Amino acid sequence: MNVKPDFSKGKNFAETAPAFLSIWELQSYYGESYIVQGISFNVHEGEILALLGRNGAGKTTTLRSIARMDDPQVNHGEIWLDHQPLHTMSSWQASQAGIALVPEDRCIIPGLTVEENIELAQIAPPIGWSIERIYELFPRLGERRKQEGVTLSGGEQQMLAIGRALARDIKVLLLDEPYEGLAPVIVDEIEKTLRIIKEQGITTVIVEQNAVRALELADRAVILDTGGIVFDGAASEVLDNAELREEYLAI
Ligand SMILES: Nc1ncnc2c1ncn2[C@@H]1O[C@H](COP(=O)(O)OP(=O)(O)OP(=O)(O)O)[C@@H](O)[C@H]1O
Ligand SMILES: [Mg+2]
Repeated sequence: MNVKPDFSKGKNFAETAPAFLSIWELQSYYGESYIVQGISFNVHEGEILALLGRNGAGKTTTLRSIARMDDPQVNHGEIWLDHQPLHTMSSWQASQAGIALVPEDRCIIPGLTVEENIELAQIAPPIGWSIERIYELFPRLGERRKQEGVTLSGGEQQMLAIGRALARDIKVLLLDEPYEGLAPVIVDEIEKTLRIIKEQGITTVIVEQNAVRALELADRAVILDTGGIVFDGAASEVLDNAELREEYLAI
């Protein structure tokens, strides 16, 4: 019998660093479809965690569950952020508690300028970075502050989506495919800002099809396969393990 090695409890799984964001036995459904099938993993304060896996593995569903979006339904499990029970909260409450989800489609609001998109995020507390500080991080946004947000290039829209997340006082940034459709030079630019955001103490979970780029940026990685965890450990361990990369990431 061909027994696959079990990487799901990698060396770092039981690390002594306290969990900042803790996902425990999470089960999520779209209607009758059982998608996230009882996953548990921890994210430590200030780290970048890459959440990886093939198409349909359940990455987006996991991020949406953490952000407490209406879909999927979380039917079992707990999600704790800095001692706050996210699993009991609505998406609005989770946002107030410090979760920011930057979805794959970036959701820039049509009819509003770059600046108005950011201002809208600051309409209610808790307010995070000032608009000027966001422009310091993304000078292109400052240059285009009066331009309608949806007319920006893909890379600039991604910057706006991240900048808008930082406009609120957040603890965890959840990024769904931030590099999708972007030229390598723009990916470089965004990666640089993600490193700066990390230096500011913000914790990030990045979902990316461009697994190598995400692993080079991340401290740790969790790999999903059909709704379950098949690896939890150091990002470098995945980069060094050809078998694991081929089996679950096809890279
Ligand atoms: N709104 C939905 N209703 C029903 N099923 C869904 C819905 N969204 C996703 N699914 C299913 O849930 C499974 C996991 O989808 P999910 O989007 O979480 O995967 P993913 O890992 O993000 O994939 P990708 O890399 O393609 O973005 C897939 O089988 C998908 O078809
Ligand atoms: Mg997805």
